[in-house]
Amino acid sequence: MGKTFEDSGDFAGDFGGGFGAAPPLRRPNAPDRTSVDRRTPVIPEYLHEHYWWAYVHPNALRVFERQWLVNAILWGNYRRLRNAALDALGAQLSGLTLQIGCAYGDISAVLAQKARASGGEVGIVDVLPQQLENLTSKLAPDVPVRRLLMDSAALDMSDASVDRALMFLLLHEQPEAWRRATLAEAFRVVKPGGRIVIVDYARPAAWNPMRYLFQPVLARLEPFALDLWRHDLAKWMPKTWERARTVRRSYFGGLYQMITIDR
Ligand SMILES: C[S@@+](CC[C@H](N)C(=O)[O-])C[C@H]1O[C@@H](n2cnc3c(N)ncnc32)[C@H](O)[C@@H]1O
Repeated sequence: MGKTFEDSGDFAGDFGGGFGAAPPLRRPNAPDRTSVDRRTPVIPEYLHEHYWWAYVHPNALRVFERQWLVNAILWGNYRRLRNAALDALGAQLSGLTLQIGCAYGDISAVLAQKARASGGEVGIVDVLPQQLENLTSKLAPDVPVRRLLMDSAALDMSDASVDRALMFLLLHEQPEAWRRATLAEAFRVVKPGGRIVIVDYARPAAWNPMRYLFQPVLARLEPFALDLWRHDLAKWMPKTWERARTVRRSYFGGLYQMITIDR
């Protein structure tokens, strides 16, 4: 692999406005999926097989939609990672920001408020209708958010129609083929000059006890997560990533990483 990530402590971006009104999200003649439609799309098998307990089961939302619990699952790093991701998206969130994959906790609510303050809007993609429906109770009623029932690996959106995109702890849950397709789709829909922010697991430093204690837990509960311990995310990036500027930052002794990519 020729290209590697550029590590830097200084990455905070400011898009500085100027994107103007968000373009239409849908391709011409595409079906309207801005409201939750239970018929489409097909729910990927890996969610049924490996993540039924976290997202699919009717009790999943009742159990996991608690700020303290998601914070505990992230070893007390929820706010830190959330804030890092939202800062990395940019000081101004004018235009359209896409969150690819819902997440438990208040990240979408904070993102939506930040976008509203910049006159922007947010599209939130998920393949499970119940996860999108759950947003209703988390978001202020007047925030500019569109819920998009789509598979991240096949976004029903035009090329270069989004100003920036966020994947918060999504990629480690996906088998390789989905991970690769999800990244390719993010690169396709984000405009040249736009930004992609990824927060996910990574291999902890050798001195970090998490490397030994957490490995068996992840291996049991999240079968694809250790891919991100073994490989740099570069492995699944599309060809167009070669031309992008990428900055990587580590958190919590390397257990988490944030990748900021300028298209
Ligand atoms: C983004 S991850 C976030 C996980 C993290 N543990 C959390 O909640 O903070 C979980 C979400 O991604 C969604 N998801 C998983 N695979 C997807 C796919 N192929 N397309 C769209 N959404 C997907 C799940 O339905 C779930 O709502």
